[in-house]
Formats: sequence, C-alpha cells, structure tokens
Amino acid sequence: MSTATSPKQGHEIVRLENAWKVYQMGTEDVKALRGVNITFGKGDFWAIMGPSGSGKSTMMNVLGCLDRLTSGAYYLDGQDVSQLDDDALSELRLKYLGFIFQSFNLIPQLTVQRNIELPLYYLGWDAVRSAQRAQELAEQVGLGDRLSHRPTELSGGQMQRVAIARALTNDPQVIFADEPTGNLDSATGVQIMEVLTRLNQQGKTIVMVTHEPDIAAYANRRLHMIDGNIDRIEEGAYVTAPGPVTARVSPQDVSRRAGTFARPDEDVTRAARDA
Ligand SMILES: Nc1ncnc2c1ncn2[C@@H]1O[C@H](COP(=O)(O)OP(=O)(O)O)[C@@H](O)[C@H]1O
Ligand SMILES: [Mg+2]
Repeated sequence: MSTATSPKQGHEIVRLENAWKVYQMGTEDVKALRGVNITFGKGDFWAIMGPSGSGKSTMMNVLGCLDRLTSGAYYLDGQDVSQLDDDALSELRLKYLGFIFQSFNLIPQLTVQRNIELPLYYLGWDAVRSAQRAQELAEQVGLGDRLSHRPTELSGGQMQRVAIARALTNDPQVIFADEPTGNLDSATGVQIMEVLTRLNQQGKTIVMVTHEPDIAAYANRRLHMIDGNIDRIEEGAYVTAPGPVTARVSPQDVSRRAGTFARPDEDVTRAARDA
C-alpha cells in the first residue's frame, strides 16, 4: 500500500476489473456483480446509487475489503488485493480504510473518547497519544466537549459524528460510508453531508452508498448500479457545503440543476423521504 511500491497509474485509488460476485444459494447462483469495470480517483467523492438488489452493498463490501470477489481483480492503491486472505484484508482495513455505517455502530458501554480510540488500540498506539488523537478528531467534528459522554447520551447526528471521528483515526486512504444519513432526519443529514464534504475538500477519498438523490448530490460523481452492473455515471456535485472549493459541474449536468438534482427545499426532501 505504500506509495513507494505502488505502480504509477495516474491518480487512481480503487479499480475493479471484470469484477464478478456470485453468491451460491442452494442450487441457485445469485450474480450480484456481473463484470464491473470502474476506477475511482484519489480525492474523489463517489455516491453509489441504484435500486434495491442492484449490488450496491456487495460492491461496497468488496471495495471495503470486507468480502472478496468470485472472479476479476480489485486494485487498491495499485495493489491487487483480490487474492488476499482474511487476516491480510483486516490489516488493510485497519491501516488504510475508514467505515461509516447507517446505524453508527458505536459501542454503547464506551465513552465517546474510547469509541474514537478503538482503532488506535488495535494499531498499538499508547494511551497518551490515543487520547490526544481522539481529542483532536472530536474537535474536528464539533464534539470536543462530549468526550466523556456515552452514545446513549447523544443525538443521532452526534453519534454519526463520533463514528466519523472514529473512521478518521487511522488517517484512511478511503472512507466508505453506507447510507450515512439513512437513520437521520433531513436537517441532521445535511449537517453530516457537510462534514463529509469538508473532509473531501481536505483531500479524503469518499465512497458512499445512498438511495437519496439529495444526499448523492453532494458527491462529485454518481455511479448508478442496475442488475449487478453500472447503468450510468454522472459527474459534478450539485450541492456543496460552505467551504473554499466550488462544485465541479460538467456542462451536461447544468441542465439537470433545474431538475431533480437542484437542491430541494426541506418540504420536497421530506416528501421524497416519506414517499
Ligand atoms: N450474502 C448473500 N447471499 C446470497 N445472496 C446475496 C447475499 N448478499 C446479497 N445477495 C443478493 O445479491 C444481490 C445484490 O444484493 P445487494 O448487493 O445487497 O444489493 P443492494 O445493496 O443494491 O440492495 C441481491 O439479489 C441479493 O439478494
Ligand atoms: Mg444494500
């Protein structure tokens, strides 16, 4: 994974080549990924979209080194990781990847500080350095004054910000977010997207699964899946958080700004969510 040993292949960080994932269900084969070819660049912010059953979670699990392809190749920062065993994959996850889940996945018995520190414990950091790092990260997500709280004493948005801080402890190459706003109301969801957008502006590569167009609109690329393959790719962010970087919007996207991807007002967002 080190840059010294990575082959120079432009600025790619993630590449799938003819990626197949076939689940065996009794005598039946379920082809969840059917020959996907895709490259994600360093610093990109991708949203993976598509109907239920189209392969989004399967793709996310493979990219996040939580599962292996049936055939094809997965290059992570230039290294083919598709043949690695479970131990090697968990080491990759621990050292190079960050995860944010719909249900936050915090440990209820642990304080905010301990939750954030957890990956550092596995990385062998000492207590003093870990505490410092947890403090810095908690401040970065606006929770510097909540370190001794437990998850049950926090709102959903605060819990997700703890989870984001935890995902950042190892300074990950890629952050994977699976429906990060799925359990949040729309106003809180916007706050979380602003945190993710800021991280992306600071250079973090983000890959996010979402089925909500108004959430996907924050990403600068949207990959639409259908039946285990890529339906289409859209370029350009339609919504940006306050910050120094302006949206990259390609000419063909501009026409859509007035359509479904124009930033919806709250009522429209809520109506879409409740539909
Ligand atoms: N562990 C599994 N075992 C068998 N089939 C699975 C498994 N995970 C997903 N599938 C099937 O693979 C297809 C894609 O699923 P999934 O990746 O979860 O789609 P999505 O996240 O887009 O809803 C579906 O047909 C689903 O039923
Ligand atoms: Mg899914």
